[in-house]
Order: sequence, then structure tokens, then C-alpha cells
Amino acid sequence: MSSLVLVGYATRYGSTQEVAEAVAATLRECGLEVDLQPMRKVRTLAGYSAVVLGAPLFMFRWHKDALRFLSRHREALTERPVAVFALGPTHDPYDEKEWQDSRAQLDKELAKFPWLTPVALEMFGGKYDPAKLRFPINLLAGKEPASDLRDWTAVRAWASNLAVKLQPALS
Ligand SMILES: Cc1cc2nc3c(=O)[nH]c(=O)nc-3n(C[C@H](O)[C@H](O)[C@H](O)COP(=O)(O)O)c2cc1C
Repeated sequence: MSSLVLVGYATRYGSTQEVAEAVAATLRECGLEVDLQPMRKVRTLAGYSAVVLGAPLFMFRWHKDALRFLSRHREALTERPVAVFALGPTHDPYDEKEWQDSRAQLDKELAKFPWLTPVALEMFGGKYDPAKLRFPINLLAGKEPASDLRDWTAVRAWASNLAVKLQPALS
């Protein structure tokens, strides 16, 4: 098997893609070979030794591309180390209840895939830009102000630790 790591992401407004880019860049800085792809474009995991999946929560669900990816690649994912991150909380200032709720939503979604045992699992803050919302979501959304809770230091630290965890599967 190759020593290539897939960083697969799903995104609606682009913020998870930027986090996936930072994860991929950090893994590369740690010496890993990385392929960064939108999950929906990945047809096979045959060329990868490890998989990192990142997707945002929307309306209490994980992004549908991520749910589909897990269903579609079940067998290959059970044969490789898999790490997972999600983006969710957007309330500024920090709202502990929101973080707990987002984490519970992610746990509930992942519980649909009991065979999945991630080597790392993390929730990151998300980005909220009401100007990007389209009809009818813009009507349903509240009057929350724009925010960006992505903590780049936390993202890079998570990816560095992950590089150490993945190393044995890549050599
Ligand atoms: C309409 C809408 C619904 C959302 N629903 C949730 C949710 O149920 N739980 C949560 O934790 N975050 C929720 N979020 C926050 C998103 O996960 C966050 O904005 C994320 O950064 C979006 O990722 P993207 O830019 O990659 O699409 C929601 C955001 C929007 C705009």
C-alpha cells in the first residue's frame, strides 16, 4: 500500500474546506504525503493508507456528503485508520451549551456507523456569514451576527498530533 493520506472534506459555504486545507498543510509539514479532495469526488480509497474526514453540521445533521461517504466506503474505511473532524459552533462569545449540543449532534450522527472507530475525533468552531445564506434558509435563520470561530492554532495542533498517530500505518 502507498503512504498517501486522503484528507476528504464536505462543505457548503467554504469554511470546512479552508480547515481541511490547513489540516492537509500541517500533515505535509510533518512529512506525510497528502491528497486533499472533496469527499464527493473520491471514487475509491485503494490508493490511500489513512483517511481524514471533515464536514460541517447543518440542521442537527452531518453534511450529507460525509454520511454518503461513510456508507459507500464502509469496507475500505474499516481497513484503514480514520480521523474525523466536524465544524459546528458559531456563537460568539463562546457558548458552552452550544458546543455540547454540537458534539451530541455529531456523536448521534456517527452512532449510525457503529463500525467506525476513529483514531481521532474533534469538533472545531465554524464560520457563520448570514450574507451567504440563500432562500429559504435565509428566512429560517435567526438574526445571529456574522462570526468565525475557527481556531487555527487548535486545528494545526490537532493535525500535528494526528500525524504522529498515523505514522505507524504509513511506514
Ligand atoms: C443554516 C445553517 C444551519 C446550521 N446548523 C447547525 C447545526 O445544526 N449544528 C451545528 O453545530 N452547526 C450548525 N451550523 C453551523 C455550521 O456548521 C458552520 O457554519 C460551518 O462552519 C459551515 O461549514 P461550511 O462553510 O464548510 O459549509 C449551521 C449553519 C447554517 C448556516
